[in-house]
Amino acid sequence: MDANPGMQDVLSADAHIVTLGLGTRSYDIVIGGGLLAQSGALISKRLGAVKCAIVTDENVAEAHLDTLLGALDANCPHAGTISLKPGETTKSFSELAPLCERLLAAGIERGDVVIAFGGGVVGDIAGFAASILRRGVSLVQIPTSLLAQVDSSVGGKTGINTAQGKNLVGTFHQPRLVITDTDLLASLPERQFRAGYAEIVKYGLLGDIEFFNWLEKSRAAIFERGPELARAIETSCRAKAAIVAEDERESGRRALLNLGHTFGHALEGFAGYSGRLLHGEAISIGMALAFEYSNEAGLCGGQDAGRAIAHFRAAGLPVEISQIPGDTPSPGALMDLMAQDKKVSGGVPAFILVRGIGEAFIESGVDMENMQRFLARKCSGK
Ligand code: GLY
Repeated sequence: MDANPGMQDVLSADAHIVTLGLGTRSYDIVIGGGLLAQSGALISKRLGAVKCAIVTDENVAEAHLDTLLGALDANCPHAGTISLKPGETTKSFSELAPLCERLLAAGIERGDVVIAFGGGVVGDIAGFAASILRRGVSLVQIPTSLLAQVDSSVGGKTGINTAQGKNLVGTFHQPRLVITDTDLLASLPERQFRAGYAEIVKYGLLGDIEFFNWLEKSRAAIFERGPELARAIETSCRAKAAIVAEDERESGRRALLNLGHTFGHALEGFAGYSGRLLHGEAISIGMALAFEYSNEAGLCGGQDAGRAIAHFRAAGLPVEISQIPGDTPSPGALMDLMAQDKKVSGGVPAFILVRGIGEAFIESGVDMENMQRFLARKCSGK
């Protein structure tokens, strides 16, 4: 289903639209170069005349805010910009409260729009604020990092972190539109780009071996930020849209999108959600661990595990716990952190394991003693 048949009128021929089908809440993910400068026209085409408040971070504001402000026209007047501190620690209760109050002070009403203009952190906290402000206002995502473009801006998950773990407080609040300007990635620092690439690889590993085969051939061109990059983003968004359309609230299949995340979130928690370990780096290690564990459990052949891990290594991503800079976690600490995972049931976390590349499945009955022994080996670098 096309969320807005008229959208193509305001787009250049090389832009692509992926529609996330959720009945009356369906929306478009518009992907292409130069879209930021068209965002006002795209928003009013989709939402009519609306007042827009922008939530961003200081780095994105410095690089791109002028372009977005220039794109907002009389149909979507600018109600104010709130610029947050960059970094995962911004996703907290203490930042959420003033954000909501500033949006209210900017006069954002039920019919208005919050634009989440940034990476995953901005998308998650701005989305959460939009979902609770006046019991829910419209949200438009304009993701600026590769990770946000291929994952967090799509699918409606919002949230903040607490002392107990990552994303443990939040809502499902679907955006009305996602505007993905691939030109914004030209200036993305290499480390951030690599971290976002881990999420692209995830879609191949979890359910699409053809895509993984293509990534093996196209990785260098993607990192050069050639036309293959837009294709990789579009394929990732299509894969995510198909899964979310089937299981919006993660009662089943959507959990597959967490391949590598049970391990990865625990590693991020250990590293203090800091620049020491980016989310994409954590899930790269997490996906490598999922393949190794699956291989050791006799579920997945060693050749597939080796191929997956080799691909992350070739992309310059970490695959071992020992590659985290600084001290190494104890297996007990990781087990405690995993016990707080969102997918925990009866104190036992669910893991996404694999039968091969493109064949992920949800395993809720992992033997936690085996897991502790596995992690003890991995933490000691074996
Ligand atoms: N990032 C996983 C999800 O959106 O379900």
